[in-house]
Amino acid sequence: MSNLSATAVACANIALIKYWGNKNDALRIPENGSISFNLDSLFTQTKVSFAQEFSSDQLLINGKPADPAALIRVETFLDIIRNLAGKRMFAKVESENNFPIGTGIASSASSFAALSLSASIAIGLDLSEKDLSRLARRGSGSACRSIPAGYVEWYPGKSDEDSYAESIAPANYWNLMDLVVVVSQEHKKVGSTEGHKLACSSPFQKIRIENSPERLSVIRNAIRRKDFQALADMVEKDSNMMHAVMMTSSPSLLYWQPTTIAIMHAVQEWRRSGIPVCYTLDAGPNVHVITTKDYYKLIHEKLSELAGISQVYSSKVGGKAHLIE
Ligand code: DP6
Repeated sequence: MSNLSATAVACANIALIKYWGNKNDALRIPENGSISFNLDSLFTQTKVSFAQEFSSDQLLINGKPADPAALIRVETFLDIIRNLAGKRMFAKVESENNFPIGTGIASSASSFAALSLSASIAIGLDLSEKDLSRLARRGSGSACRSIPAGYVEWYPGKSDEDSYAESIAPANYWNLMDLVVVVSQEHKKVGSTEGHKLACSSPFQKIRIENSPERLSVIRNAIRRKDFQALADMVEKDSNMMHAVMMTSSPSLLYWQPTTIAIMHAVQEWRRSGIPVCYTLDAGPNVHVITTKDYYKLIHEKLSELAGISQVYSSKVGGKAHLIE
């Protein structure tokens, strides 16, 4: 029996400048570049085994067979890898998230990054970091940013060849922390893949895209100089701009809950009092609160005093996707 297998681990990531809207939905070529950092404590471990004997692809998530939609997305992705390798074998994919599924914390970035690395190695491909990032992008756009280490920029590019992510600073360059504040555990009604397709229906998307090089440059410089105030102002602005696009799309996407807004106000008040802290939100009501290692305990305490919060997951900046035994 020919059984080719590999296991990889990849972190989730939080975008400081967001990816929202594609130039090409099928290839996930984004309309704008984005910058993120990896989340060391939130990761997916994926084992992939290819075998001639398998008659179909199988997907287990946390030990249970995945729902049909998730399986189809993974089968389509495995087809890309099979084509690259020129091999026609089905795979068994066993994926474990160390954070509970259904908490509203996105797992597509860590999942497709871990799957790209484990499946490509298992099938016998030895891809460069750039090509792995390009591959992960095909599974989930934000997954391309979970391949390189630390602080990462995704260059939007114009084609499959030049749309990939690269590390712009190592994980230990700056001691930022991310606290994911879980406001709602409900599964989102409109996921990111559908949301990206709606972005162009908002009149604000054009302005958001046109202005993105300037925002990217501010964040790049803020990271380089470890300038929290500059980072904070732009991170919140960029998140608000993406949500302005979401809210003004047709149909409109309104992810914020009352507790979401209460946290945003609290964070701004804490920053005004001199604490380095800011917020950013993905496609859901949960709030990512970013601070530095020195202040994270204080922020954690302050958050636990607010009403309506079910859980907080803290992470320092994480490393690159890697293989394990
Ligand atoms: C709001 O990468 O989840 O989190 O490519 O369809 O899987 P797909 O979308 P996804 O979109 C992420 C959107 C975001 C912003 C970001 O992470 O940049």
